[in-house]
Order: sequence, then C-alpha cells, then structure tokens
Amino acid sequence: MVGRSKRKGLTRSAALNPAFGVGVRKRRSGSSLRKPRPPGRRVERLTIAIDGPSGAGKSTVGRALAKRLGYIYIDTGAMYRSVALRVKEKGISPEDDSALQQLASSLHISFVTENEQTHVFCDGEDITEAIRTPEISRLASSISKQKGVREALGRMQRKMGAEGGVILEGRDIGTVVFPGADVKFYLDAESDERVRRRYQEIVEKGGKVIFRETKEELVQRDYNDMHRIHSPLKKADDALFIDSTHRSVEEIVEEMARIVKAKGK
Ligand code: DC
Repeated sequence: MVGRSKRKGLTRSAALNPAFGVGVRKRRSGSSLRKPRPPGRRVERLTIAIDGPSGAGKSTVGRALAKRLGYIYIDTGAMYRSVALRVKEKGISPEDDSALQQLASSLHISFVTENEQTHVFCDGEDITEAIRTPEISRLASSISKQKGVREALGRMQRKMGAEGGVILEGRDIGTVVFPGADVKFYLDAESDERVRRRYQEIVEKGGKVIFRETKEELVQRDYNDMHRIHSPLKKADDALFIDSTHRSVEEIVEEMARIVKAKGK
C-alpha cells in the first residue's frame, strides 16, 4: 500500500507508515493551492479521542469532524475487525492470545478515504464489507478482550496518531491509547436508539437481519466491551460526555469543532 494507488485521485498522506504495518491515506484536497499561512498563525494539529459504545454515532460524527478540520480519521474498531476476519479465515482460537498478538503485529492495515467513503485494506485486500458482518462484530468483541492483541493494535494506533491532526475513534482511546489526547469526547445515546441506528445501517447496506437479533448482539457486545479486564470501555475522567440521542450530526459536529478550536488556540 505504498505510493500512488491504482485508483484515480488517491495519494499518500501523513501518517502512512508501512514500517509499522499501518497506513492512512486521504484523497488530495487541493492543499497545494492553499495560500501559505501568515507567520505567527500556526494552527495546532491536535489529537482527538472519541470513545463510546456501538451505535452512538462515533463513526458518523468522527468522519464529519475530520473532514471539517482537515484531520485524518482512524476507525480503531475496524482494526479489531480486521484481526477478527483473519482469525476466522486462519482458524485461530479467539482465546489464543499469543497467536492473536503475533497475527495482529504481522498485519498491514490501512485506510483509504475517497469520496467520503473510507475503505479498509488488510495486506492489500479491500475488506471494507467483509468486516461488517454480525459474525465479525461478535468475534472482534471477543478477541478484543485479550491483552496481547490490544497491545499490538494500541502500538499501531499510537504510531498512526503520533503526528497529531488526527481523530481516533474506539473504546479505549482516551483512557489507554492516548490518555494525553488534547481533546476527548465520550459519545453515547439511549440503548433503543443505538439499536435502531445499527439495524438501519445494516438494512440500508442490503443486509438481512432481524431487529431482535441486532438488539441482542449490540447489548451483549457492549456488556463484553465494558466488563473486560483489559482496557474496558469507560469514559475518561476528562472526556466531555455527549448524548447524541435527540441531536443531529451537524449539531454535534458543530459543538465538537467549537471545542477543538478553543483548545487549539
Ligand atoms: O467500533 P466497532 O463496533 O467497529 O468495534 C468492534 C469491536 O472492536 C468492539 O466490539 C470492541 C472492539 N474495540 C475495542 O476493543 N477497542 C477499540 N478501541 C475499538 C474497538
């Protein structure tokens, strides 16, 4: 995944670091045409953490906020899903942490954003769709309780975010991966609303799923993610809590952007 992609318009951007098996690319946005910034008006490139349970809206607002700020967006859940997919394919036991850690460290996971769609690649293969099945959701949650796999992916995430100008979305970003993040958000919504969103998302993509099953899966997964021993999902003390239940994406992104801008001054 190094250099120019075969697909038109995809270019290498910051944080692409194949040496660590991770990469993030963004479509060129005409930055070479931008006027140089006047001296003394350096805008800080912050590290922003967005944590919260499934269906809270993290990906939607994270992506929109990244676009607005010109930041790189990293979906760390997709990284756990990538490992889960390979675990399934290779027949590795989800309880075998040493095999999981070895596997996670060996994978080359990268993100390519094009036309506001983020594609996830693993060792050169586009696995964007393959990692969104209910089975992979369950398996990702299951392997994510293991310490070794968390350490391997946490290391990659720190490398990806090292330069700043980045939004990382997940479960443990503000508590474990980037406890010193410049801005931390904890996004949540009422349980019924989160189930409704997840169900809608699957149906819109043409998936066939029963509402009751979506609900059971989401409740179980959240319970697992919140009650595991290593890096459980919880709000960092210094994270700003946002309830997205009755609010629009635009409204939330507006509030977040205001907070980030105030922090960056
Ligand atoms: O965000 P998601 O639903 O795609 O994440 C899939 C699973 O990955 C989630 O159930 C728990 C795990 N995960 C994690 O443990 N830590 C993260 N930072 C992100 C995801």
